[in-house]
Amino acid sequence: MIPFLDLKAQYASIKTELDAAVLKVLASGQYVLGDEVASFEREFAAYCGAKHAIAVNTGTSALHLALLAAGVGPGDEVITVPFTFVASVSAICYAGARPVFVDVEPDTLTMDPAKLEAALTPRTKAIMPVHLYGQMADMDPIVAVAKRHGLHVIEDACQAHGAEYRGLRAGSIGSSGCFSFYPGKNLGACGEGGIIVTSDDDQMKAMRMLRDWGQEQRYHHVLKGFNYRMDGIQGAVLRVKLRHLENWTEARRRHARHYSSLLAGSGRVEAPVEKPERRHVYHIYAVRTRDRQSLQNSLQAQGIQTGFHYPIPVHLQKAHADLGYGIGDFPQSEAAADEVISLPIYPEMTSSQVAAVAAAVEQMADAA
Ligand SMILES: Cc1ncc(COP(=O)(O)O)c(C=O)c1O
Repeated sequence: MIPFLDLKAQYASIKTELDAAVLKVLASGQYVLGDEVASFEREFAAYCGAKHAIAVNTGTSALHLALLAAGVGPGDEVITVPFTFVASVSAICYAGARPVFVDVEPDTLTMDPAKLEAALTPRTKAIMPVHLYGQMADMDPIVAVAKRHGLHVIEDACQAHGAEYRGLRAGSIGSSGCFSFYPGKNLGACGEGGIIVTSDDDQMKAMRMLRDWGQEQRYHHVLKGFNYRMDGIQGAVLRVKLRHLENWTEARRRHARHYSSLLAGSGRVEAPVEKPERRHVYHIYAVRTRDRQSLQNSLQAQGIQTGFHYPIPVHLQKAHADLGYGIGDFPQSEAAADEVISLPIYPEMTSSQVAAVAAAVEQMADAA
């Protein structure tokens, strides 16, 4: 049995540290925000190479506040990709703006900068690239378009903790970057969590107020805010886990290289592409095949769990039918949605488990 990910194995590996950190918060009475969250904000901002970090309750809330702080509101358009988790698009809708899609590149499955200019209108306010699977989008040309047109770039880095582009960390290139700490993420809380990093002082101040009912000081509400605060326990948990993140990322990258070397010869599955000058952190290791359902069934029969990330692009989801897109509008996203299958990857996996999964994939490829 090889699970898709193994949160219990991670807990076992850091149990002593984690238990002590949680008990400390229980004794402190600081259950919402507090010292542990403030320290985590400083440590995570430094990790990303940004000036500030604002901890919130989910990655979706992070995206929502980043959009509001960038001045996005009703009547505005925000450009993103349809090949993402639905939350990227939901956050744009929460802000009252209209999501506008551009297709992804066929190899990286991240925003295709060559398609950006055609999607701009006078209402465009921001661009939200998604660092899908843990690899950053091609930021230089995206930022160049944004600069030319006076737009904000908000990085959806919810899957990309510690990813790099030309030596810069995810979250540090745009006007802000948003992360999720959902438990299965590369840096995961013991519950929900999220954070925004930014080096813009004004945006930081606005987001600090917005996450806490828009208060400047207690009961003085200067903005229409939200209850998006991070729990003290999650701050403490994330501080412990942040200290392990680099080792965990290197383990993921080792497993990915191992997979890719073993799968290179199969001819039936395409391994993911890691571009030069980018550090892919392999939140997800997705291969492509025309017959992924048979592959999933065959692996499942051997006790190997897999996933499809994501089987329906957002422009074809019922919930977003009002945007007026249809089949054929974003061919690369649609093809990827039909062909990707994610293999198990997590730091605690052993290299023999990686080899066993790769062998099972090869076997299937041979049988077909
Ligand atoms: C690309 C992307 N954006 C946004 C989110 C939303 O994060 P959360 O689940 O913490 O709200 C996720 C995580 O699930 C994600 O993968």
